[in-house]
Formats: sequence, structure tokens, C-alpha cells
Amino acid sequence: MTDGRVLLVAGGSGSVGSAIAREALAEGWKVAVHGRSEDKVHALVAGLSDQGTIDGFIADIREDEAAETLVAEVAEHFGRIDAVIDCTACGPMGITGLFPETSPDVFTDFLDVSVGWFERLAHAAYTFLAQEGGTLIAFVSDAGIHAARRQTLVGAARAATIGFIRNFAIEAAHDGIRAHAISPSYVAETEISRRKGTEFMSRVSRRAGLGLPTPEDIAPIALFLCGDRARRITGQVISINGGLNA
Ligand SMILES: NC(=O)c1ccc[n+]([C@@H]2O[C@H](COP(=O)([O-])OP(=O)(O)OC[C@H]3O[C@@H](n4cnc5c(N)ncnc54)[C@H](OP(=O)(O)O)[C@@H]3O)[C@@H](O)[C@H]2O)c1
Repeated sequence: MTDGRVLLVAGGSGSVGSAIAREALAEGWKVAVHGRSEDKVHALVAGLSDQGTIDGFIADIREDEAAETLVAEVAEHFGRIDAVIDCTACGPMGITGLFPETSPDVFTDFLDVSVGWFERLAHAAYTFLAQEGGTLIAFVSDAGIHAARRQTLVGAARAATIGFIRNFAIEAAHDGIRAHAISPSYVAETEISRRKGTEFMSRVSRRAGLGLPTPEDIAPIALFLCGDRARRITGQVISINGGLNA
């Protein structure tokens, strides 16, 4: 039972976020869906508005005060925020690659739009999540858990978000807030997988004994973590990778 609870999906106009928005409406959540491109957010809202209460919010997370403004707008519009799931994916080119070929400037930028953004979002949403016992979820990546070549910078930034979640969770539990990280490795049927190309994705997919997850596989798990049945769980990092990493 969600009792009209409100979910903010940051980066909700993307592949995983839009699957979460769709599933959340089916489960009775009211959904605030955020993205950078107005066209994408409006198209998603228009496509889902017959399935429940959903509204769109536009903000570029690189702008000053983006997290505070976004959270304030959602709270003003819906009157409450019970869960926040961050699905934003943005970073400079060159964040993956052999370490000597990467630039420290790229790393600083990625830290700001990954762990920095998420910390600002968590900070802005904290008092709302504390009101009724809410949930905060960060999407990270298996690069933050499993070492691999060409992933040094991504792995370091994602590990920072995981460290944030685990420490935050212990403290925030005293205010009734739960926090988790969801860690995909590769996700099939996404914009990112389309950019990587069929040949690359087929090769990775053969290594995943259970098959790579799609956004529709991931969405119910994120919402389970936000629901009452997960009320005694916090601080977990859930890898969803079809058996690629363990
Ligand atoms: N897909 C994968 O294979 C994969 C693998 C490992 C981890 N992950 C992680 O899983 C999460 C979801 O991935 P996804 O596949 O759904 O990504 P996606 O389809 O690329 O969606 C990214 C979302 O972030 C938004 N965004 C990007 N830059 C922004 C900015 N500057 N300001 C505001 N919003 C911005 C996008 O909005 P616009 O489109 O309007 O820019 C979109 O809503 C991400 O954290 C990603 O790193 C994904």
C-alpha cells in the first residue's frame, strides 16, 4: 500500500528512471519525474498520465541550487516526498579509459555530478523523507564494487557514493530514513546500451548467465526497497547484473 505517497525520480526521463516511474504509478505512487530535456520529460508525463498522478520537473543538475530548487518544487506541488530515487547519468567524455589517458579535470567534474549531486539531493530531501519514514536510493555502478581496467575514475566516484549511502544509512535510520544503492553492471535495452552497440552488448550478455537486466527488471526492486515490506533494511548495495559479477 502506498497511500498516495510521493516518489521523486531524478533522471526519471532516462531508460531506468522511466521504467521506475511506470512501475511506481502501477503500485499507486504519485510520481515526480525529473530530467534535463523538457521534451523528454513532457513526452514521458503525457504517455503515463492516464495511469496515475505524474508531473514533470526540469532542472540541469550542473546548475547552482539545482537540488534544493527541484526538491522545493516537488514538495510544493505534491505536499510531501516519501522516496527519492536518483537515476541521473551524466558525465564528461573520457571518464572511462586507461588511467594515464584520463585527465584530473574530468575526474573532478564527474565527482561533482555523481557523488556531489547525490549528496546535495539527499541534503535537500532529508527533512521531507524524515517526516513519514522515507527512502533514498542512489543508482551507482558495479565499477564501484568490482575492479576492472579502464574503470579507475568511474569506480572511484561510484565507490564514493556507496560510502556515502552506507554511512548515511546508519545515521539517518534514527530519523526513520532508509538508504540504499542499486548497482547495475550493464543494462540491456537502454540509451546507454544502444550507444555501446549490439556487438559489445552481445559479448557482455554471454558472460551474464541469467541474462542482462532490462530497466523493467530493475524497477520493481527499487520500489520494493521504498515500500513497507523493506522497512527494516537499510544501507545495502544491491547489484543487479544477471550473474556478471558476484
Ligand atoms: N544503463 C546502463 O547500462 C547502466 C549501467 C550501470 C549503471 N547505470 C546507472 O543507472 C542509472 C540510470 O541509467 P540510465 O540507463 O537510465 O541512464 P539514461 O537513460 O542516460 O538517463 C539519464 C537521465 O539523467 C538525466 N540527465 C543527464 N544529464 C543531466 C543533467 N545535466 N541535468 C539533469 N538531468 C540530467 C537525463 O535527462 P536528459 O536525457 O534530459 O539529459 C536522463 O533523465 C545511472 O546512474 C547510470 O549511471 C546504468
